[in-house]
Amino acid sequence: MTFSLRSVQTLAGFIVVLAALQVRAAPAQDVKQLVAACAACHVMSDVPANSVNPIIWGQNAGYVYLQLRDFKRATRASESDAVMHALTQTMTDPQMLAIAEYVSAQPWPKSQNGTTPPTDPLFRRGALVAAYGDCGGCHFNNWQGYSANPRLRGQTPAYLTTTIDEFRSGKRGNSPGMSDFLRIYTAEDIRAIVAYLSSAE
Ligand code: HEC
Ligand code: HEC
Repeated sequence: MTFSLRSVQTLAGFIVVLAALQVRAAPAQDVKQLVAACAACHVMSDVPANSVNPIIWGQNAGYVYLQLRDFKRATRASESDAVMHALTQTMTDPQMLAIAEYVSAQPWPKSQNGTTPPTDPLFRRGALVAAYGDCGGCHFNNWQGYSANPRLRGQTPAYLTTTIDEFRSGKRGNSPGMSDFLRIYTAEDIRAIVAYLSSAE
């Protein structure tokens, strides 16, 4: 069986139209459907300090997109990422971009993280370690980061502790540079950094 030139051209045209449709997919209503299930775990207000589910609402779009991509590719694949790995399997690239933009446009939720007051020695030590470590060089803008550099301010202490441990052990392997930055600290330094970043208002 052979294809005529015309049928090949028609097929090519069809593929181009399909691709264009895909790129323009995900109008507002579709995005709302895609994110409908997220809030079951990533609650939108009154996030408890012991939540290992990170705050995602109001997180930077570039960073959210990269994480969805990495969960899907399993370059971010510790045991705690099993759910996100499963959820992202059927997501297309344009869908992940649309989700990231939607997620980042939501207000950062009210959280119950402000447990370490600025007068606490642990908070002060955390501020010092973060300053000497030049964490603010990338997580700048008052710890809100920008684009692919995540916001850390007000993130839940339980999640920060988990993900920093996973960077240090290499279980979170999607950013070897970030792992190197965090490996030089003592456990007490890390406790202090977490107390400081999660409580910074
Ligand atoms: C069943 C619970 C569950 C659901 C539903 C869920 N997530 Fe997650 N998500 C998690 C957990 C747990 C983590 C943290 C994994 C870790 O510790 O590495 C996470 C992490 C993330 C991260 C990384 C955040 C960061 O700061 O690195 C993003 C982004 C994310 N989820 C987006 C979503 C989106 C978008 C949806 C909806 C489409 C969703 N999640 C639905 C449990 C869930
Ligand atoms: C050279 C830039 C740079 C420096 C310096 C840096 N970071 Fe990061 N950090 C990043 C980037 C980029 C990411 C996102 C990595 C990814 O895509 O997974 C990140 C991710 C993180 C995360 C994960 C956030 C989340 O929501 O999961 C934490 C926590 C973190 N950094 C803490 C720190 C601390 C503490 C310091 C200082 C000791 C520091 N970083 C210094 C660039 C940097």
